[in-house]
Amino acid sequence: MQKGELLYEGKAKKLYATDDENVVWVEHLDQATALNGLRKEQIIGKSALNNQISSIMFEKLNAKGIKTDFIEMISKTEQLNEKVEIIPLEVVLRNRVAGSFAKRFGLEEGEVLRNPIIEFYYKSDALDDPFINDEHVKYLGIATDDEIADLKKETLKINEIVKEIWASIDLSLVDFKIEFGRNKAGEIILADEISPDCTRLWDKEGHHMDKDVFRRNLGSLTDVYDEVLRRLQGV
Ligand code: C5P
Repeated sequence: MQKGELLYEGKAKKLYATDDENVVWVEHLDQATALNGLRKEQIIGKSALNNQISSIMFEKLNAKGIKTDFIEMISKTEQLNEKVEIIPLEVVLRNRVAGSFAKRFGLEEGEVLRNPIIEFYYKSDALDDPFINDEHVKYLGIATDDEIADLKKETLKINEIVKEIWASIDLSLVDFKIEFGRNKAGEIILADEISPDCTRLWDKEGHHMDKDVFRRNLGSLTDVYDEVLRRLQGV
């Protein structure tokens, strides 16, 4: 497979074309951002950790019958993905009170929700990724009613699978953000990544094992991601 022209550069990865029009070459970057890119730091080693963690998670999801864009990991920092058109939605699922949910409703972090809560954010750097509801999603032409229902159903299914994986390595899945894309056949499939960059994970002692270490200046981000990868490789 040949690496072609740069198609897109995001906050944490670069996407390149390949000699196959249906395949993109993804390179994870040693960069961490917070506050929608306002705070940006280079963190050596983060790209290899995220790429490996996300590859393992996507492989496990594929094995459970979830359709994803993941094809294969080709180096510690790179993977091949099926080309998709990303749906401009950040789909957040929450199992416990934390982060912006705690802040918005003036709640303490930690409580387990009676049932998972799904939220949509409109992916737009210019607008700071605003919180939007189903009607907005429909109005903006992002997805139809049926597609919104499918996105939610798939997100709940993904939650059940990844919650079990994280629990098997003694991590409580607090919340996560995922993204979906449309492939050439028009199917909506899981895309982007599943890593501690976009997933809140708390260990048995309540330590943050995710990007909150960076957001809240709690110590070495790579030490924590390294521990997550080490545990995942053991299962
Ligand atoms: O900040 P908030 O509580 O809304 O985040 C919910 C989940 O979505 C967290 O796991 C966080 O890491 C993830 N997230 C993300 N990218 C964003 C916003 C949130 O990955 N732009």
